[in-house]
Amino acid sequence: RNDKTKMRERFWELAGSKIGQLMKIDQKKTKDEEEKKFGSKDEIEEDKTVFKDDGEVDYKGSSQYAKAFAGNNEKAVSIFAKTKTLQEQREYLPIFGVRDDLMTVIRDNKIIIVVGETGSGKTTQLTQYIMEEGYAKNGMIGCTQPRRVAAVSVAKRVAEEMNSELGEKVGYSIRFEDVTSENTVIKYMTDGVLLRESLNDEDLEIYSCIIMDEAHERSLNTDVLFGLLKKVATRRRDIKIIITSATMNANKFSAFFGNVPIFEIPGRTFPVDIMFSKHIMEDYVDAAVRQAISIHLQQGEGDILIFMTGQEDIETTCILIAERMEKMEGAPELLVLPIYSTLPSDVQAKIFDFSENRKCIVATNIAETSLTLDGVKYVIDTGFCKLKVFNPKIGMDSLQITPISQANANQRSGRAGRTGPGMCFRMYTDNIFRTELLESNIPEIQRTNLANVVLLLKSLNVDNLLEFDFMDPPPQETILNAMYQLWILGALENTGNLTDLGRKMVEFPLDPPLSKMLILSHDYECSEEVLTIVSMLSVPSIFYRPKGREEESDSIREKFFVPESDHLTLLHTYNQWKMNDYSGEWCMKHFIQVKAMRKVREVRSQLLDIMKMQKLELNSSGMDWDVVRKIICSAYFHNAAKIKGIGEYVNLRTGIPCVLHPSSAIYGLGYTPDYVVYHDLVMTTKSYMQEVTAVDPLWLAELGPMFFSVKESYGNNESRLTNLGGSGAKTKTLIEKHGKEAMEKQMAE
Ligand code: CDP
Ligand code: MG
Repeated sequence: RNDKTKMRERFWELAGSKIGQLMKIDQKKTKDEEEKKFGSKDEIEEDKTVFKDDGEVDYKGSSQYAKAFAGNNEKAVSIFAKTKTLQEQREYLPIFGVRDDLMTVIRDNKIIIVVGETGSGKTTQLTQYIMEEGYAKNGMIGCTQPRRVAAVSVAKRVAEEMNSELGEKVGYSIRFEDVTSENTVIKYMTDGVLLRESLNDEDLEIYSCIIMDEAHERSLNTDVLFGLLKKVATRRRDIKIIITSATMNANKFSAFFGNVPIFEIPGRTFPVDIMFSKHIMEDYVDAAVRQAISIHLQQGEGDILIFMTGQEDIETTCILIAERMEKMEGAPELLVLPIYSTLPSDVQAKIFDFSENRKCIVATNIAETSLTLDGVKYVIDTGFCKLKVFNPKIGMDSLQITPISQANANQRSGRAGRTGPGMCFRMYTDNIFRTELLESNIPEIQRTNLANVVLLLKSLNVDNLLEFDFMDPPPQETILNAMYQLWILGALENTGNLTDLGRKMVEFPLDPPLSKMLILSHDYECSEEVLTIVSMLSVPSIFYRPKGREEESDSIREKFFVPESDHLTLLHTYNQWKMNDYSGEWCMKHFIQVKAMRKVREVRSQLLDIMKMQKLELNSSGMDWDVVRKIICSAYFHNAAKIKGIGEYVNLRTGIPCVLHPSSAIYGLGYTPDYVVYHDLVMTTKSYMQEVTAVDPLWLAELGPMFFSVKESYGNNESRLTNLGGSGAKTKTLIEKHGKEAMEKQMAE
C-alpha cells in the first residue's frame, strides 16, 4: 500500500489483459446511444472515455478494470428479472403488502415519515401509488434524491414499470440535465434542483406531493429543504410531504415536523452475526482482503460485500484480492466487482447480474442504503468512509477518510441479512465501536462550506440565518465564514444583505466565484470567452494521458498551451474544437476526451440560456485575452499566490505553500510569474494548484481591495503589492475580524 503508483500500474495490467471483447460490446452500445443524441457520424469506436452517470466524466480506463473484473457476465441476467414480469416484481415488494394502510395515513395527514429497509420499495413505488390514488391531478409528484446517480437510475426503472418513455410520464432533473416534459407527472430530481425551484416558486405550487427520499443521509440540501418545506406546509393546505428514511431513528424527523406519524414498512430481514476484530488493525485494506479470502475459502455460499472508503482503496482491494486468488491453485472462482458512484451505470449494473460463482462486491457507502443487493451473506466493514469536510484553515471543502458512526455500522451489517441469516465482520474492536464511534453521522450542514446555501437563503429573504429552522443548526462560525466569503466576492453588502451582483449570482447553478466571473465578464465585454472557461471548468478532465503514450500525448497537449494561463489554455482548446466543427475525430487525435467536450458544450448552452434570461448578452473581447485574465482574477483573488521558488508559491493570505502542477501551461512561459491565482488546491503529497493564471499584482489591489494594496517603495519608483496591514496571516485575521464584526452586528440586530 505504500507504493500506490506501482500498485495502480499493476492494477491496469491485470485489468488490461481481460478487457478485449468486453470493451467492444460496450463501445457499440455507447455508439448507438451517442448517435441518437448527437446525430454524429464521428468515429467513436476508439473513444474509450466514459461518462459518469452523474453527468461528469470519468477518466479513461476506470471502467476498463471494472469490466475486467466483471468477468464474462455479458449474457447473464438476473434470474428473478427473467422469470417475473415487472408487475409481479412490484407486487413482491414489502411495501405492496401495506399499500392500503399507507395510503390511508397519507390521506389523513399532510406530512408523514416512512421508514423501511433498503429494497422495500419506497423509492420506486411511493410515487406510483400516490399517482394511482389520483393526487397527480393537482400537480406533479416530486421525489428528491441526494445523489444524481440515484435520481437517474430510479427514474429509468419507474418509467419502465409504467411502460412509459423516460421523460414522458416519468422524468428526472439534475443539474445541467432536465429530462421532463409537460406530460411528466412523476419527477425524480436531486434535492439541489428542488431547492433551486423554490427560488422561483416559493410554495412549490407545481407539486401536489413532495417525497424527500433517503432523508437519513442528511445531505446539505435536504437539511435546508426541511426548513423550507416545513414553512410551505403551513401555507399550503393541499400539499403532501413524505419523508423517507432507511433507518429507524425517524423520531427526530417526526419531532421536527411537529410529531407527525411514522409509518413503518415491515422488513423481511434475517439475523446477522456480528464479529469484531480482537485487536486494532493497522491497515484496513489488508485486513479486509484477508477476511474476504478467508470467507471465500472457508464459509458456505453467499456473496461478500466489502465497505471501503473510495475509488482508490477500492481499486487496491480489487487488485490484492485478484492477485492472491491468482496464486491459489484449485480455489473456486471469485468474481470481484468494484462499485462507487462515479462508475458508469452500465458497469454498476454488473453487480446485479447473475453469476454461478461467488461475488465479492467492493463498495463505498453507496451500498449502505442506495442499492439493493440480494445475494449478500457476508459483510466486511472497514469502519471508515469518505466525507466532505470543510477545512476552515484553507477555506475549502475536502474529502477526508473518517470513521463511520454506529448507525452506519448497523446499516452496513444489516446488508448481510436480506435473503437469509448472515455474518458481518467488523475490522475494528468492540471497544472502538462502543467508545469511539459517534452514535450517528454529523449532518453535512455541520461540516461543509455554506456559501451557496447562504446565498440561496438570502435570496429567499431569510434575513437572519441564525434563526432559520434547521433541524441541526450549523455552527455559527461556519455561517459567518460563508458570509465573509460572499462579502469579499461582493455578493453581500456590509450589512449582510444581498447586493445586485449577489442576486444575479443566485440564478446560476455554480459556485459563487464562477457565477461572479460570468456576470462580471459581461461588463468587461468578454462573456463569450469566460462562458467557455466556466463551462470547461465544470467537467473534471479534458486531456488524457494513455499509458505508454505519455510523451506523445504531452507534446500534443502542449500545442494548446497559452503560457500565461491554464484557463486560457482551456479556452483555446475549446475554440480549436469549435473551429474543427466539434469533431470527435479531432478530439481523439489530440488526446482530448470527446465526451467531456460534448458535456462542456451542453453545459455552455445551458448557462447561456440563463445568461439570456438575466439579460446578459454575449460579447467578445476578440484577441484581447488580458481582460479575461483580469476577470479570472476578480473572482479568484482569494486564491492569489506569490512566487517563492521555481514552481513554488505561497498563498498571499494564508501563507500556505502551494506548487504548480507539472502539467500546468504556465511552465510554457519559460519563467514563473510573480503572482498567480488558482481555481482549486488539490492536496496529495503537496498542495497542487489546479488551473493557474498569471496575474498583474495591480489587479489584485484593484479587485481585492479588502486584501491588498499597492505600496510605493522608496528607492525606485516601482510599486509593490503588499498585503494590507502586514503579514499574510495577520492580515487575514484582521480582515476576517473586521468583516465578521460587521456580520455579527448585522445578525444581532
Ligand atoms: O427505496 P427502497 O430501498 O425501499 O427500494 P427501491 O429502490 O424502490 O427498490 C425496490 C426494488 O426495485 C429493488 O429491490 C430492485 O429490485 C428494484 N429496482 C431496480 O430494479 N432498479 C432500480 N434502479 C431501482 C430499484
Ligand atoms: Mg430508496
